[in-house]
Amino acid sequence: MAELNQLSADFNQYLSEKIVVKNPVNLYEPIKYILDLGGKRIRPLLVLLAADLFGNDYKKALPAALAVEVFHNFTLIHDDIMDSAALRRGKPTVHQKWNENIAILSGDAMLIQAYSFIEEYPDDIYREIMKVFNKTALEVCEGQQYDMDFEKCQEILIDQYIEMIKLKTSVLLASAFEIGAIIGKATDHDRESIYQFGLNLGLAFQIQDDYLDTFGNEQTFGKQIGGDILEYKKTYLYLTALQNSNSEEQALFKSYYQEKDVVNKIKKITQFFIDKNIPELVQKTIESYTELAFTFVEKLSISSEKKQILKDLGLNMMSRNA
Ligand code: IPE
Ligand code: IPE
Ligand code: MG
Ligand code: MG
Ligand code: MG
Repeated sequence: MAELNQLSADFNQYLSEKIVVKNPVNLYEPIKYILDLGGKRIRPLLVLLAADLFGNDYKKALPAALAVEVFHNFTLIHDDIMDSAALRRGKPTVHQKWNENIAILSGDAMLIQAYSFIEEYPDDIYREIMKVFNKTALEVCEGQQYDMDFEKCQEILIDQYIEMIKLKTSVLLASAFEIGAIIGKATDHDRESIYQFGLNLGLAFQIQDDYLDTFGNEQTFGKQIGGDILEYKKTYLYLTALQNSNSEEQALFKSYYQEKDVVNKIKKITQFFIDKNIPELVQKTIESYTELAFTFVEKLSISSEKKQILKDLGLNMMSRNA
């Protein structure tokens, strides 16, 4: 087993060799820009770790890890247009720094690059990875569409929200594990269990992202605090606040979203969340999805030391502030 630090270091090295600026620079510079901003690089770590855990040389998983990270960053560039976000990883978003057309096209190019990194694998592995990759990529689009559709709807059920975040966020974390497991030549049973681990961890991860969007620190989170409020996102916070209010309070809460002054709007809504004890309720839900995720670690046919590595990683992801 390699140290996680080693996996990350090797990935960063590999990325810096593969992601280079060429002509036309307005296509390739934004790609390098967003990738050089870094981020937590969780998904490539999951790919490498899974390959390693199931006993293959993790270096063989580097191209797939890069494919997943480039795909993720492509979704972020387009997501920032859709969410009118100005800040990403503490820096201007691509459509702000360049423009929307450039952000669209650089994003498209990244999706294609992601596919081309997978071409490195032998035919049988290639086909297996592509099946997972294509299914996932389409699901992410479906999730993103629901996310936008929900902005226009007031009555969203928690179940609908969970399905939406499963699609927009969880499936990619789950697939990162599964793709690593394919390269590690894991059994079908292990592939399915590590996928389910990632899926449930992904739900906790997105709920944590919703939490940080209101209660995080802009310096560490790197995104504008209150962005979800301004976009009228139906986040776990919003839905739980409604669920815990009587009809009078619900009407008052919804009226805050009509407030024109953005600073005041964010302030009032955040205070409502606090009054309704939402931070505690949200943290409990994050814990329960993390616990549920851990039940799938127990199903894996790997040593208990290796299981512990996966659980520690899960706990680390949930105690993040970025
Ligand atoms: C951001 O993902 C998008 C979500 C699914 C919440 P990350 O929180 O993994 O972003 P980076 O890559 O670390 O910046
Ligand atoms: C992210 O959802 C999902 C994808 C990018 C596919 P968010 O819109 O919550 O992600 P952030 O908060 O902008 O990173
Ligand atoms: Mg967003
Ligand atoms: Mg979004
Ligand atoms: Mg978010």
